[in-house]
Amino acid sequence: MDYSPRMSRIKESATFKYSALAKKPGVIDLTIGRTNFDTPRAIKDAAKKALDEGKVNYTPTKGIPELREKIAEKLRDANNIQSLDKENVLVSAGAKQLIFEAVLALVGEGDTVALPDPSWVSYESIVEFAGGKTAWLPTHPERGFIPEETFLSALENSKPKLVLLNTPNNPTGAVYPPKVIKQVVDICERKDAWLLSDEIYEEIIYEGEHFSAGSIYDKCITVNGYSKNCSMTGWRLGYAASKNREVIEKMNAIQEQSVSCATSFVQYAGIAAYTKEARKETTAMREELRKRRDHLSRRLSELDAVYVKPAGAFYVFPSFGDTDELKLADKLINAGVATIPGSPFGSKGKGCLRLSYGAASIEQIDEAIERMKKSIP
Ligand SMILES: Cc1ncc(COP(=O)(O)O)c(C=O)c1O
Repeated sequence: MDYSPRMSRIKESATFKYSALAKKPGVIDLTIGRTNFDTPRAIKDAAKKALDEGKVNYTPTKGIPELREKIAEKLRDANNIQSLDKENVLVSAGAKQLIFEAVLALVGEGDTVALPDPSWVSYESIVEFAGGKTAWLPTHPERGFIPEETFLSALENSKPKLVLLNTPNNPTGAVYPPKVIKQVVDICERKDAWLLSDEIYEEIIYEGEHFSAGSIYDKCITVNGYSKNCSMTGWRLGYAASKNREVIEKMNAIQEQSVSCATSFVQYAGIAAYTKEARKETTAMREELRKRRDHLSRRLSELDAVYVKPAGAFYVFPSFGDTDELKLADKLINAGVATIPGSPFGSKGKGCLRLSYGAASIEQIDEAIERMKKSIP
């Protein structure tokens, strides 16, 4: 067929593929990249009000000023990214769209993008679609996938135009300590590389401290959104911000010629995410996720796997050593447990499975472990 050569560089998302397989009746689904909570009431009410008030037209490409102002304030107060105002913020249809725009704006044919191994499946495809190539920075299961010497020396030895960081991390649940982020920033600074800090799981942290690279590095683009912490994956709302206003304008130029703007009434709803009522609900969600994480981590010790109890997000990424995890994931589907095999996340994901507890009850977790115990020798 006569498609553009770039189409050969975009891969089917492994997470979407395995999530589709999980739809068989009776299968316990541990593939899901979201939680099973409803969006907080205050956000839903704000969307309805905006619709009733006729907020149905195009908005400014960058997003409505009221929301961008709230975001800038949040980034200054909670993330210590100072001297930002609404002009440094771009709102779009989800964090993924903004990552796409940032990569398209910065990465040209043959440019290198450095990223942790393993990493969220979409990064590699987006980079390759843009014509770039990836330099993988290894992390290890026995160290809880926190970047350490091998990661830093691989970064030192690469020539990245852009470095992608994601903390709390998908697929590993790792929360990168401030010291590690400062080491990465230090290398980026010396190499004059851009840094994209994907903080979409920021508010889902059980231990440790979230540190935003953007607070100490001007060539950083901070990406965040509402999908995970406010259970809004279907609403499609996210934002990017940088002290470097020019890069935001470049991304905005891509947005202007593609999606135009995020959905109007969804942007008004986003403002309500910062209300006390909505925050109360998201705190309750996090506490429920913590219980599931504790339970799953405890029960995983009954399997022959290497893992560190994750400090954030809603994933555990146990390693089953030399096992072919693609075959293991297939075997587990037949045994009634759907998981995502680790290798699509990078070579360090070989032998690993990503288990999501975002949408699994304690009872489902128990049943999944019983089924896994029968299938894993
Ligand atoms: C690490 C990471 N970044 C970004 C996204 C995309 O978020 P959004 O729904 O805001 O596009 C996801 C979704 O799974 C993710 O896991």
